[in-house]
Amino acid sequence: MRFAERIGQINASQTVWFTALIQKLKQEGREIINFAVGEPEYPTPGSIVAATRDALEQGKTRYGPVAGLAALKSSLAGQFEGLDDSNILVSNGSKQCLYSIFQALCDPGDQVIIPRPYWVSFSEQVRLAGAEPVFVDTRAHQLDCEGIEKAITGRTRIILINNPNNPTGAVYPQADVERVAGIVRQHDLLLVSDEAYAFFVYDNATCKSPMEIDDLREHCVVVRSFSKSYSMTGFRVGYVAAPAPVIQALSKLQSHLTGNVCTFAQEGALAALDLGDSFVRTMQSDLQHKRDIAFQYADKLFTCIKPRGAFYLFPDVSAHLGESRTAEDLAAMLLEEVGVAVVPGEAFGMHNHIRISYALPEKDLIAGFERITEVL
Ligand SMILES: Cc1ncc(COP(=O)(O)O)c(C=O)c1O
Repeated sequence: MRFAERIGQINASQTVWFTALIQKLKQEGREIINFAVGEPEYPTPGSIVAATRDALEQGKTRYGPVAGLAALKSSLAGQFEGLDDSNILVSNGSKQCLYSIFQALCDPGDQVIIPRPYWVSFSEQVRLAGAEPVFVDTRAHQLDCEGIEKAITGRTRIILINNPNNPTGAVYPQADVERVAGIVRQHDLLLVSDEAYAFFVYDNATCKSPMEIDDLREHCVVVRSFSKSYSMTGFRVGYVAAPAPVIQALSKLQSHLTGNVCTFAQEGALAALDLGDSFVRTMQSDLQHKRDIAFQYADKLFTCIKPRGAFYLFPDVSAHLGESRTAEDLAAMLLEEVGVAVVPGEAFGMHNHIRISYALPEKDLIAGFERITEVL
């Protein structure tokens, strides 16, 4: 069978073999503690489920407008000063938002600057658009603004930031985001800001969107998601906020790709916006507490920077690797010997690290770290 070249140019998610191993061990009756999860453990709030069920019962089961339900787009536009419905596109999770952005904005040969380590899909989605990911290493998980500026060439089209960050949990200081914004303006580029973890910020840290920076609006494309923020990962609702011409291009693409996002899932998303701050604050304080527990353990075992966002730790595990062992080997050992699943840093473009998600019940979190401590 002959496949298109573009499929040969991308890697399947490097965590796939690992997920298969987790499944196999579970089938064999092993009790696995899953530090590899990328979603909060909380159930979807009842009001979201009820609104979705009501929508189904009311027959809201038909095609809808390609770019999203009017009421949902209006509410989402209200999150950004000076934007309206024409600046919003609702898509199937922020994953599809990002895929479409690279398809609509990059020509073959264009370059997209991506700070490393990076979320697994960025590089492959850029490649699928025929463009080239250009990685710039972070420094202690923070943006290397000088390195980013040096990486700019005549082919650079986009600088991508993900704040708060997956896999590191880093939250970038506003001054650094403004510096990158300045670089974007100066070189007439686009800043794509992945804010999938916008609600997950601790220690009273602030994490403002670059969309709020003066004069950046014409250069800024923001991607957000209902997935993690409202425990709605399976609903597949994310959105883009961008200049109207970008939204028109994305809508054109989406009209041939998937059409609208599932209509009743969008009704659930509308209900999520009515939840108010208390839901988010409860989640934040629970996760901050779990971050503290996880960090206490990880700090004793590894070299670990305390994160202030998302729900991951990304420690340097070199001290446990010796000469020939990789982070993948270590992750496989933890899974096979003590039944704890973590994601090796290789999946995020970085050796000698593992990603640990702490968004799980406290007793599992403690039990998992006790097992790791014992085996190491
Ligand atoms: C940084 C980042 N962006 C985007 C996504 C995609 O999320 P979704 O498609 O569920 O909105 C994820 C999911 O893990 C992520 O970690």
